[in-house]
Amino acid sequence: MLELVGGALWAMLPAYVPNNAAVLAGGGRPIDGGRELGGRRLLGDGKTWRGTAVGTAVGVALAMLLNYVTPATEGVLGIVLPTFPPLAALGLALGAMLGDIGASFLKRRSGRERGASFPGLDQLDFVVGALLLALLLAPDWTLETFSLARVAVVLVVTPLLHVVTNVIAYAIGVKNEPW
Ligand code: CTP
Ligand code: MG
Repeated sequence: MLELVGGALWAMLPAYVPNNAAVLAGGGRPIDGGRELGGRRLLGDGKTWRGTAVGTAVGVALAMLLNYVTPATEGVLGIVLPTFPPLAALGLALGAMLGDIGASFLKRRSGRERGASFPGLDQLDFVVGALLLALLLAPDWTLETFSLARVAVVLVVTPLLHVVTNVIAYAIGVKNEPW
């Protein structure tokens, strides 16, 4: 059980932190440059170049840090943990950001303003983005690392983690909405 849940969450950590780092680092020029589609913003002011770049960099850096502490952590927990080749780290981190950006695109198309919630999409957009880009950039690693059991754990636990971290971010004043 510890092996399954611990391994799944460990493997997803480089995809979990980018969005939170983007919240802290965000600001500056929006990716869509203010452009509109059908009278609505393409993505909105909540998706910036700086937030995306810093979020991705933090996710990759975390993966490298995890690689460094894996042997010691395995020793303490008595389980085997995944390590991250550079392309897998990039796929998870950048994919998480792109998934979130894709969700903003869908939110704007469905008439939701910046910051509006979209239950389900908000909690899993970055998981889908991360797994897809990891699969594209590091297919063998991704298929080996994300067994069906681990994917199932990720799909169940991620929404819970997402809700908890965002409520905390809202409570301490770094996020505008609690989702
Ligand atoms: N952020 C950013 N760049 C990103 C993602 C997030 O700069 N690629 C920053 C923005 O300051 C954003 C904040 O993180 O306002 C919160 O992120 P999120 O909730 O994803 O954006 P929203 O502002 O809610 O916008 P949207 O409705 O498009 O999700
Ligand atoms: Mg939001």
